[in-house]
Amino acid sequence: MTESPRTALPPLDSPPGDRLDVVSAWDADTPYQAWRPQILVPPTFRPATPARVYVAVNQKGGAGKTTTAVELAAAWAAAGLRVRVIDADHQEAALSVWLMPQYPEGSPRHSLRSVFFDECTLAEATYPTLFEGVDVVPSGLDLSRVEYERPIGAENAIAAAIAQEAQEAGGHSPYDVTLIDAAPSLGLVTVAALTAGDEALVPVKVGGLDMKAMASLDRTIRSVQRKTNPKLKVGAVFLTAWDKSDFARQLATKVSEDYPDAVVVPIRRSVRAAEAPIAEQPVRLYAPKSTAAGDYDQAAHLFLQMPEAGA
Ligand SMILES: Nc1ncnc2c1ncn2[C@@H]1O[C@H](COP(=O)(O)OP(=O)(O)OP(=O)(O)O)[C@@H](O)[C@H]1O
Ligand SMILES: [Mg+2]
Repeated sequence: MTESPRTALPPLDSPPGDRLDVVSAWDADTPYQAWRPQILVPPTFRPATPARVYVAVNQKGGAGKTTTAVELAAAWAAAGLRVRVIDADHQEAALSVWLMPQYPEGSPRHSLRSVFFDECTLAEATYPTLFEGVDVVPSGLDLSRVEYERPIGAENAIAAAIAQEAQEAGGHSPYDVTLIDAAPSLGLVTVAALTAGDEALVPVKVGGLDMKAMASLDRTIRSVQRKTNPKLKVGAVFLTAWDKSDFARQLATKVSEDYPDAVVVPIRRSVRAAEAPIAEQPVRLYAPKSTAAGDYDQAAHLFLQMPEAGA
């Protein structure tokens, strides 16, 4: 087996002035020019405890799903949690390439597809990445076979694999948090991801909002809640590539009306976020001082009780 040294993910020391304000309601009276970027935390919100499964989902392409999955994973790993990311997108050059799974030499390479087709367990399809504390279940183009071959029980395949793994590990998941990066579609693999999730995290690119896409995402989530996963909720909406504008504020207001129990998080636009995948590093490592790294870090600390917080 080739053992590459794993890179530790750094804590961030963003200055307090650079952090997002946390509010429990939008202030409609302040003109947007004077508005500070704010996280909306509804009064109903409670931080979750590990083990937790999150799904980054939006069938609109380029919304920020993969970036959200990678940066939250990096933030949680930096805080000492054991994190697994599942690539549920068959597109090449997505999450699996960004995080570079470290395959052992001389063994067959498994992937999420192998789990759907009962060729291996989820643990066997999980590989270390180059980053300490983050493991990955990779995917490739052949994941699309799930959509047209529809293996038996596909909708429940990820949920069942996670449950089986926890059972084999003595009743507890070996991971504090699992993040599933969904494809830009609402096909069978995305439904399987939502069926396995405790919470959907919905990234919406500011400026790229498509109300029709949001409506069909909403229908799919409701349908999964009714039929395969009643516990699923929309935990957060991320407004990605956020810039201060009246439009961004209207969007934030609309999103919090549509999802009154969801945390609404702006992730400020940062050219570093677009560069990091090319450098094959999380933004947190590539540009620890960037606003995008800081904003994801703040959200990660809000969502889950961290070990150092005495959880
Ligand atoms: N905060 C940000 N500021 C600037 N660019 C960003 C930000 N977040 C994401 N991006 C860029 O937007 C693009 C799309 O992001 P990403 O790949 O995460 O979206 P996606 O929803 O996973 O896309 P797909 O639907 O193709 O899987 C990428 O080039 C990414 O680097
Ligand atoms: Mg993606």
